Amino acid sequence: MATLSLSNVQKQFGSFQALRDVNLEIGSGEFICLLGGSGCGKTTLLRIIAGLEDATSGSLRLGDDNLADVPCHKRNVGMVFQSLALFPHLNVAQNVAYGLDIRGVDKAERLKKAGALLETVGLGGLGERPVSALSGGQRQRVAIARALAIQPVLFLMDEPFSALDAGLREHLQIEVKKLQRKLGVTTIFVTHDQNEAMSIADRIVILNEGRIEQAGTPTEVYARPATPFVADFMGTNNVFEAQFTGHDVQLDGRSLGAPGASFKGLFGRHQVAVRPEYLRLSRPSEGDAGLVGTVEFVRLLGASIETELNVDGRTFVHTRISDSPPEFQVGDKALVQFDMDHAWMIPS
Ligand SMILES: Nc1ncnc2c1ncn2[C@@H]1O[C@H](COP(=O)(O)OP(=O)(O)O)[C@@H](O)[C@H]1O
Ligand SMILES: [Mg+2]
Repeated sequence: MATLSLSNVQKQFGSFQALRDVNLEIGSGEFICLLGGSGCGKTTLLRIIAGLEDATSGSLRLGDDNLADVPCHKRNVGMVFQSLALFPHLNVAQNVAYGLDIRGVDKAERLKKAGALLETVGLGGLGERPVSALSGGQRQRVAIARALAIQPVLFLMDEPFSALDAGLREHLQIEVKKLQRKLGVTTIFVTHDQNEAMSIADRIVILNEGRIEQAGTPTEVYARPATPFVADFMGTNNVFEAQFTGHDVQLDGRSLGAPGASFKGLFGRHQVAVRPEYLRLSRPSEGDAGLVGTVEFVRLLGASIETELNVDGRTFVHTRISDSPPEFQVGDKALVQFDMDHAWMIPS
């Protein structure tokens, strides 16, 4: 298999620019998530990769091949769409074997392959069923098996689980990830759900208004978002413009304490982000560095407790492991301190 390279891909719909300067290299066997809000260009990019849509300019290469010369049906991509488009008049096995049928594989062989794939996706023995007699999760599995039956070089999925309930979605995410690892097929998975992307991707590509904001491992985009947009999208809730004086960091004229090792010697105003787990909350007392805020919301998220604070109209979010009941209640005053060794600067 080969590297997929996108260079300066642009897509124009009339006067509307849906994709701008998309540059991306996807390695063989990689699991990529295209992540972004509605309308940011995820589906358009996926359709261009599949050959269902032409880029207005730019190039796509798969290894040494320029994909502009390769029509959709010769690109050997397996696709799963949000609306599954299973063939209602075909049974489960016939659906899975469809692509093989088109490619002229003989009946015995394609039914054998379909049977094996149905085993792989946990639907062994259901080949004879009409697709109308399947649950939502089972239909998704049929769509996945159908896409993989042709042994694609690229496996593309467009929000395949967004219509399913949370439990089933998580289950299928794990299954797809395991299956992808086993098959080693290069995979591009579109989602608007950052948790979904975090849990399955080798690398997340965050799109905003048709542009790549950042591409990186889940850890990189989560812990070191490169732009304010990514910080916000990945749920880094504490972003503010701080003043660096050389010996301390200030927000609205109040000292947050020493700048920490990574900001030593820094001067001037900079955007700073601190993840919710690197805030410290305590009872306010005179003379402490930090900000005093009011607790606005406390919620228990299973393993963690999230506390939202209002400091002079700014919102900060704190989380900690919930091994004991919440220390702060709504309405309490709390001293908010930032662990500056775990803060980072967002380039402006
Ligand atoms: N065929 C089309 N004609 C005109 N505009 C389109 C077409 N397809 C998509 N768009 C526009 O391009 C933008 C990106 O669409 P899309 O790629 O579907 O976004 P996403 O999948 O991220 O929600 C949207 O504003 C959408 O309205
Ligand atoms: Mg879409």
